[in-house]
Amino acid sequence: MPPGKQHGMHPSDLIDVDRLWRRLMRLAEFGATSAGGVNRQALSPEEIAARKVLAAWAREAGLTVLNDPIGNLFFRLEGTDPAAAPVLSGSHIDSQPTGGKFDGTFGVLAALEALCALASSAGKPRRPVEAVAWTNEEGSRFAPGMMGSEAFTGKRALDGMLAVEDVDGTSVRSALARVLAAEPDVSGRPLGFPVHAYVEAHIEQGPILEREETSIGVVSGIQGSRRFRVTVSGEAAHAGTTPRRDRKDAVLAAVGMIDALSGLAGDPEDVMFTVGLFRVKPNAPSVVPREAYFSIDLRHPDNDVLGRLGDAIPDCCHSNKGACAVAVEEIAHAPSLEFPGSLRESISTAAERLGLSWREIHSAAGHDARQLHYHCDSGMIFIPCRDGISHNESEWTEPHHVADGSRVLADVLWELADGR
Ligand code: GLV
Ligand code: MN
Ligand code: MN
Repeated sequence: MPPGKQHGMHPSDLIDVDRLWRRLMRLAEFGATSAGGVNRQALSPEEIAARKVLAAWAREAGLTVLNDPIGNLFFRLEGTDPAAAPVLSGSHIDSQPTGGKFDGTFGVLAALEALCALASSAGKPRRPVEAVAWTNEEGSRFAPGMMGSEAFTGKRALDGMLAVEDVDGTSVRSALARVLAAEPDVSGRPLGFPVHAYVEAHIEQGPILEREETSIGVVSGIQGSRRFRVTVSGEAAHAGTTPRRDRKDAVLAAVGMIDALSGLAGDPEDVMFTVGLFRVKPNAPSVVPREAYFSIDLRHPDNDVLGRLGDAIPDCCHSNKGACAVAVEEIAHAPSLEFPGSLRESISTAAERLGLSWREIHSAAGHDARQLHYHCDSGMIFIPCRDGISHNESEWTEPHHVADGSRVLADVLWELADGR
């Protein structure tokens, strides 16, 4: 029992909301965009700078700073039983190119704040408690994402990840080497140590909690997703002299495929289908395009629907290729999952005790908790965000939501670390 509890207090009472909010705003300076958002790509100089500041805050609180071979960054508070598997909490600090201040960062800083609160109390939990910033959750620079959590849990091999290149030809291997070289004072540790439980706090990235004026989302599970990359190969030709019937126009073929795929996906309310990346070669106004390259992000909560629609994608592309050639590669397949009831109950109980409204909510977005759920009991806490907007520079949540989520997180971490 922490001394705080002996005096009728809980770890949530020690959360310093002003400090947490200041830190959220400070971290948003790394990769800040002119429209008020954040562009902090995985393993970039902006991320290296943000990691330095995080590590300094952790050391200030007396926490140990560690990293692993994929660059996951950990902050550790010892428990009274240092041999016990730690309770882990965190998220990611990389962003989409037009990202906001809160996606991922809230979960990392809420976990760090919980550790600072626990470290400032005179007592210690039995188990160690750790905060983590997972490497490359977003996958916008190096695809697919979730590299840190997938390497940690052994879902994907590190070697394959290291070979992945960004659009400029920089590999994960070389970008990661720069990150690790910038942290000579951080001790390395192996991937995949035992974890007692994992809890991730995150903004909802949807409108439900705000609309229903509910403070806390107890996440029941995460909807499944499949991601593809499609390369359409045609032939470059003169835009003025080559008759249209003789062309192999890769863009026109790709547009036909996307239109057919969108029809295949069916109900726009139900099936999430997105082509968010589209590149053309040579990308010159008077040259018939010789190559089009695009992404497909397909999501559905029902694994049967996800399986059926995803399996139909290659054939649909081939049926619409016309005179061009097409290659379809599936780069990620993550089924829908449910978090265990015991962790959901810990979160709802903590919210009730703090007098906060809560509801169960399904996550339509992907999170590192998806991977951790295969490794240990895992769960997630959502807080509302303005108009449900995310992956957008105007993403916003209010300080009181940040306060509520981080207070619930602190109490849940304490219970997991000192209980069963
Ligand atoms: C995570 O950012 C996702 O795309 O769901
Ligand atoms: Mn996120
Ligand atoms: Mn995101």
